[in-house]
Amino acid sequence: MIIGVLKEARTGERRVSATPQAVTQLIDLGYEVVVDPGAGVEASFPDSAYVASGASIGNGPAADIVLGVNPPSRPQLERFRPGATLIGILNPALDADLVADLATRPITALAMDAVPRISRAQSMDVLSSMGSVAGYRAVLEAGHQFGRFFTGQVTAAGKVPPTKVLVVGAGVAGLAAIGTARSLGAIVRATDPRPEVAEQVESLGGKYIAIESPEVEVSATGYAKEMGDDYKEREARLYAAQCQDVDIIITTALIPGRAAPRLIDAAMVASMRSGSVIVDMAAANGGNVEGTVPGDVVRTDNGVILIGYTDLAGRMPAQASQLYGTNVVNLIKLLTPAADGRLVLDHTDVVQRSITVVRDGELTWPPPPVHVSAAPTAPASPASGPAADAQVEVSANRRPVPPVRRAALTGALGVAFFVVAALSPSALLGHLTVFALAIVVGFYVIGKVHHALHTPLMSVTNAISGIIVVGALLQIGHRGHPAVTAVSCVAILLASINVFGGFAVTQRMLGMFQRS
Ligand code: NAI
Repeated sequence: MIIGVLKEARTGERRVSATPQAVTQLIDLGYEVVVDPGAGVEASFPDSAYVASGASIGNGPAADIVLGVNPPSRPQLERFRPGATLIGILNPALDADLVADLATRPITALAMDAVPRISRAQSMDVLSSMGSVAGYRAVLEAGHQFGRFFTGQVTAAGKVPPTKVLVVGAGVAGLAAIGTARSLGAIVRATDPRPEVAEQVESLGGKYIAIESPEVEVSATGYAKEMGDDYKEREARLYAAQCQDVDIIITTALIPGRAAPRLIDAAMVASMRSGSVIVDMAAANGGNVEGTVPGDVVRTDNGVILIGYTDLAGRMPAQASQLYGTNVVNLIKLLTPAADGRLVLDHTDVVQRSITVVRDGELTWPPPPVHVSAAPTAPASPASGPAADAQVEVSANRRPVPPVRRAALTGALGVAFFVVAALSPSALLGHLTVFALAIVVGFYVIGKVHHALHTPLMSVTNAISGIIVVGALLQIGHRGHPAVTAVSCVAILLASINVFGGFAVTQRMLGMFQRS
């Protein structure tokens, strides 16, 4: 099949959906690649770089699979061939007109921005990759307009206090903004209705400001829900107080599929010091701040600068394109299971189902909801309707063991233990009792550990595995019994796998925190 790379039609868009590096990976998957003339020029990827990577320059929209960053323009869509597959950021939850238009065409449309936030799909999550670029850029734009040091300085000419930055919404963009502002030396605070982000904010050096409310709960989807009046009143009081204290505010609050929540009103902006800066990252979705103009910078009467840029990721086009291209390649890898240059869409896979807006001209949007975190889910309703049937549960649905079976199992194990105890020599009985107790204690201790902590837990079980290795080494050849030696060898092998696996996992975890 042929993959076409579009020249973005949206005015001011500088990103491209595939870089020369991505093209090489697509060719390795068995595809031919055609790139629109000049598609990557704005992102510093000339046509010659694509040709050197094995692509040809030609008619992108006429390919079998068409890649774009934004939705194609009407003239581009008219050039699509029947049966083509479009892959891009389509924003189907908010752009009903585009969805309706796509559904009238004999094509398949896949929305990169609809990839669910599950660990398996992280490598395809464009909202995360673009959000982190945009969060970084938001701080640079704010710093540019603010025109002062972020870090505090004590010089012979006087003392400069550090800049205070408030980040509203500690999602992907918010966390990137927190990290960037901190690394520049600012004092950073952050708010978010999802309490689970507190540790992430603090690990980046920010201070998490909790809004105490009964509505605050761990998110089941990785996104926030619409908050009630009580929460809104409390957060409004907090923002009113913070506006009088901080120098820069970066707002990233977003509830998927809805207009952005309005969090900072005109009175709060008016209470800020002259020269303060607000970057409203949600400007394109209606804005978190009253008075921001999407795509523009405005100065209020009291001298506060409101930045409403909607192309923050596109302001770093080379890296944004590289990350986006990698997300696209990862998706195409998933859709090309045989690596034979043929795209296969499998709707039993939750990721592929979630991103499909239109399949061969048939509207498939919206997809069934996906639960993505370990947050407690509501107990299953006995009256399951079609909506419940459509629900895709990613977490395994374990049914509890019936009490009768549990009692029978416990009884059988007890009988087996007594039989073994009666038949075995008294020396073995002591070891057997310790062994049985270790299993019970281990089962309950490990069973209570949160799944997310299993990987770090594995890295610290080296000590236990080490004891097993030492014990087994002492047994090898000790009693001259071949069975003891054989069991000892197996124990050493298994425990060593755990030890070396633990070191490897620890190394990888440490690598995640190391700066290159
Ligand atoms: P995200 O979904 O990862 O983060 C949004 C965060 O807002 C979540 O942590 C959520 O809990 C929080 N939130 C929701 N309601 C809130 C409230 N009332 N108060 C405080 N926090 C609240 O989204 P991501 O990727 O971080 O993007 C953030 C925003 O930036 C979105 O609006 C997105 O459209 C926008 N964006 C803008 C760009 C630009 O160029 N201006 C580029 C990329 C993203």
